Amino acid sequence: MNKTELIQKVKDIEGLSQDEKAYLINLVNTKKKYGLVWEDKPEEVEEQLRDNLPVLKEVKEKAILYSPPSGEPVEADAPNHILIEGDNLHALTTLTFTHEGKIDVIYIDPPYNTGSNDFRYNDNYVDKEDNFRHSKWLSFMYKRLKSAKNILKRNGVIFISINEEEFSQLKLLCDEIFGISNYLTSFTIKVRHENRILKGDKDFHEVTEYLLMYRKSIDFRTVKRIKDNTSLDLYTYRVVELEENPEKIILDGKEVCIFKPGQYEIKRTEPSEESLKCISIRGSIKEGNSSGRFFMKHLAKRIGKEFGVLYRVPDMGDDESPFRYFKLPDNSKRVNGDYFQGVPINRSNIKEVPFPNFFDFVDEFNNVGYEGNVEFRNGKKPIRFLHKIFEIAGFSDGVILDFFAGSGSTLHAILELNAEDGGNRQCILVTNNENNIAEEICYERNKRVIQGYTNSKGAKEEGLNHNNLRYYKTEFVSRNTSIKNHYCPSKIIQL
Ligand SMILES: C[S@@+](CC[C@H](N)C(=O)[O-])C[C@H]1O[C@@H](n2cnc3c(N)ncnc32)[C@H](O)[C@@H]1O
Repeated sequence: MNKTELIQKVKDIEGLSQDEKAYLINLVNTKKKYGLVWEDKPEEVEEQLRDNLPVLKEVKEKAILYSPPSGEPVEADAPNHILIEGDNLHALTTLTFTHEGKIDVIYIDPPYNTGSNDFRYNDNYVDKEDNFRHSKWLSFMYKRLKSAKNILKRNGVIFISINEEEFSQLKLLCDEIFGISNYLTSFTIKVRHENRILKGDKDFHEVTEYLLMYRKSIDFRTVKRIKDNTSLDLYTYRVVELEENPEKIILDGKEVCIFKPGQYEIKRTEPSEESLKCISIRGSIKEGNSSGRFFMKHLAKRIGKEFGVLYRVPDMGDDESPFRYFKLPDNSKRVNGDYFQGVPINRSNIKEVPFPNFFDFVDEFNNVGYEGNVEFRNGKKPIRFLHKIFEIAGFSDGVILDFFAGSGSTLHAILELNAEDGGNRQCILVTNNENNIAEEICYERNKRVIQGYTNSKGAKEEGLNHNNLRYYKTEFVSRNTSIKNHYCPSKIIQL
């Protein structure tokens, strides 16, 4: 219902005084007109935060510290990672004191709220029948994302994994928190094969998930991927003209030769500078370049009337070939024509192009169980998927935060990436200790990655030991207590 209709409804309500109607109409006029509305459900942790001071306390015996081989100078600059065990609203409040505006990248993979024991609110699982399930999830996420925004750098960026259960709600929520102008995209991630259906009782088999991307402000610069245009792989066609006196017509002032089927041959060759590339004239190509426009203007109307006819057009395009060939489809099943072009003369070798908003990680999701040698059936994300996020974020240095860390894949991915490229990225993980995941899965996994372990296939994985990992627990102290002996994260994470 739009605003005018709503005001009319108010006017039509019987039994209300003029004053009451005026009050309601004013409400309609002044209240938010577009966006999300939800019932706030306060959490116990918020009440504790109101009455106490949130702090982090180090579990010293869990610290894993880099020790250089004897004789070598102590290297102070091994990356300092931290794992915080506890509620993430608590941890984020603490980090707001020490890291406001200092985090480069945030990646989170929150509970998807599927109704099957994946989301706890005030210590109770939220099930599908709960009338407030979306409100509870939105209240929970709203508070955490507001804090997350505060600790992001001005040129920082946040990525959030989600599935269709809360996708629409999350998009509107993030539009509200980060601003619609800071929405960058929603990637679709293929995570399952369409034929590997585990539960036949569902109406549809979900093979994709989403990854939302928001920047903190326009200071974040979108990263492009590099496309190498030097490859000749697609230049594999040669046109052989068999007719010496083909029919000729004039199009756009050019003498165009027409080769009917049987009057020419198209041969496949090895990739070479002399060969041609075949381009299907579809989508944006129809209007996007001179060949597309020429075809649409003069030849597209012949599709379906003539089949397999080849047109040779002189003086076209930016390649060395004196002609450009256009071909009509061979049969009525095809709807698009093709053109053949040579290698461009002035092709710049390296071109920057945007990332696609779709990625297929089915194989990685199928094998994720083996990664880090820990079992975690609650949304474990593959290392390669995380590396793609780091690439899209342009994350080459600085601090990344994952405050729904679960099995700790984000730190594992950072440890590997740093080892690969000599980087110094630092990672802060936060996870609660549901079913001992903080201690027995997240910590254990990354401890093994740092110290080395034997994987499930019996192979020895060498430790990535040029790292420090410290373990903290969230705690509350009375507002009157001195926090001198408690952790101040800024001492540990050198920014
Ligand atoms: C979907 S899992 C994340 C999995 C992770 N991406 C991985 O690769 O292992 C979400 C995790 O967030 C944790 N979690 C849920 N609510 C939390 C809260 N309020 N504070 C801290 N952690 C929480 C859950 O215990 C769960 O392990």
